[in-house]
Amino acid sequence: MITVYCFSGSGHSLAVSKELSKLLDCEIRPIDNKTTTEDTAVVVFPVYCQNIPKPVKRFLKGLEAKYVALIATYGKISYGNVLYEAQKLLHGQVIAGAYIPMGHTFLDGDCEFDATQLLPIVRRIQAPRQAVIPKTVKNPLADIFPGLRSRIGVKIKRGDNCCSCGHCERSCPVGAIRNGRIHSQCIRCLRCVTNCPQKALQYKNSRILDTYLNSYRKEEYVLYL
Ligand SMILES: Cc1cc2nc3c(=O)[nH]c(=O)nc-3n(C[C@H](O)[C@H](O)[C@H](O)COP(=O)(O)O)c2cc1C
Ligand code: SF4
Ligand code: SF4
Repeated sequence: MITVYCFSGSGHSLAVSKELSKLLDCEIRPIDNKTTTEDTAVVVFPVYCQNIPKPVKRFLKGLEAKYVALIATYGKISYGNVLYEAQKLLHGQVIAGAYIPMGHTFLDGDCEFDATQLLPIVRRIQAPRQAVIPKTVKNPLADIFPGLRSRIGVKIKRGDNCCSCGHCERSCPVGAIRNGRIHSQCIRCLRCVTNCPQKALQYKNSRILDTYLNSYRKEEYVLYL
């Protein structure tokens, strides 16, 4: 059986997962803390500060799959060494890896991507064979308190139109919202901002982060088979 596992903050990795589930005619499941046993797992997730998001790291360590395809979406800035690091956490055989350039969460990036980029991955999943994901260059500063850097760089504010429905609290992937307050476990995935039915949550980047985000863009699609 093939299953697409998805972690997504602002919907980009979810858009890729939906396309893959259509092409592979299989189910999408959210990445959670449960240990999972699969024949083939396609794991789709975003790059956060050139790292694997914490919930995804936990998931990969517990994943029991014969074959794994790894797909990382990134905001056209940098992807570090994420796929190589993900490969190291796995028990199963990696059969494909890809970095897909998309809009950046902190720049209201849209979910558009070139769906033809998924076709060679789909073909490999249908006829599995070991892939080689080499080590790439990662900025050494990327590992210095990535979560704290995101929290300093991006502030989230709750407006008066919040109706206390609790949706944000229930859907936060790291349980960072309690009694309406965002705590320090927050990884700034912006899922709460994206999915608030009242649009009551707003985020604002620091000026330094905005300058950084607008200084450099790359449109690099990378495929490892
Ligand atoms: C906390 C955080 C850190 C990010 N770090 C990077 C990064 O290091 N390099 C990059 O190119 N994009 C970065 N991005 C942008 C996301 O990787 C990109 O927008 C991705 O497609 C978001 O996927 P999602 O909507 O499924 O969460 C970051 C986004 C967030 C929220
Ligand atoms: S999802 Fe939006 S409206 Fe509901 S509690 Fe959270 S901030 Fe308030
Ligand atoms: S509180 Fe933080 S970690 Fe939780 S959904 Fe919102 S941005 Fe993501």
